[in-house]
Amino acid sequence: MLVIHKISELQSQLQREREQGHTIGLVPTMGALHDGHASLVKRSVSENDVTVVSIFLNPTQFNDKADLERYPRTLEADCRLLEQCGAQIAFAPSVEEIYPEPDTRTFSYPPTDSVMEGAMRPGHFNGVCQIVSKLFYYTNPDRAYFGEKDYQQIAVIKRMVADLGFKFSIVPCPVIREESGLAMSSRNTLLSAEEHTLAANIYRVLKESLTLDCSVQQTQDYVVRNINAIEGLKVQYFSIVDGDTLAEVSSWQDAESIVGCITVFCGSKPIRLIDHIRYK
Ligand code: PAF
Repeated sequence: MLVIHKISELQSQLQREREQGHTIGLVPTMGALHDGHASLVKRSVSENDVTVVSIFLNPTQFNDKADLERYPRTLEADCRLLEQCGAQIAFAPSVEEIYPEPDTRTFSYPPTDSVMEGAMRPGHFNGVCQIVSKLFYYTNPDRAYFGEKDYQQIAVIKRMVADLGFKFSIVPCPVIREESGLAMSSRNTLLSAEEHTLAANIYRVLKESLTLDCSVQQTQDYVVRNINAIEGLKVQYFSIVDGDTLAEVSSWQDAESIVGCITVFCGSKPIRLIDHIRYK
């Protein structure tokens, strides 16, 4: 596997691949890779001749400096995992390489980027669009792979792809869960063993809510009440939304696809965990 740090080197390598008629899959990541990422990489490897995995902890999407500072950094282990998954290129640029000048572009795709994570983390999706659009320009992939764990992020990126006129496909990949049901996330490494056990309740309650036969409002109340009842967990928001536009729904008839998106603070640090469940 090639480990590339410079944009120009990435572009010339991909140019050579394209001249040979090879297709290119892109998997954008911020490193601290786990089995969830591995599933995206393996999917890309099975569908493309060349898989590029970017490893870049993008500062512009962090509105909280402390969150950026404590984000795990594990480049060597990441590269080992990517080799095992069969990726051909790891692209690990420096911040200066990506942002030689501050990126002043703004992206706005309401309501996808203004609700939920967009409301709680102002500027977050703008930063995501800045880095993801750059990665799209550098690689011009045939397919780009994103985990459905960050459900809202995919909705925003789809809007950006349509807006900027990119022609390749975005491939959403299912959430990979730990045995306990906890959605895999790089942030899980920051949880103690006890917090891990607590955090598993998030998906348990979400799944229980699928079996209720009641209104959107009652479902929402059920999830919030039952998660908040567990000491060490505190729901930041739980929104039941149209699965495409992410606009809130008030009845199960309001949209063709309906998803419940949740963010929960876990433990005393606390660690912020996100998850979602599909109702229809
Ligand atoms: O999902 C992530 O890890 C990041 O938001 C992404 C898409 C790699 C952009 O930095």
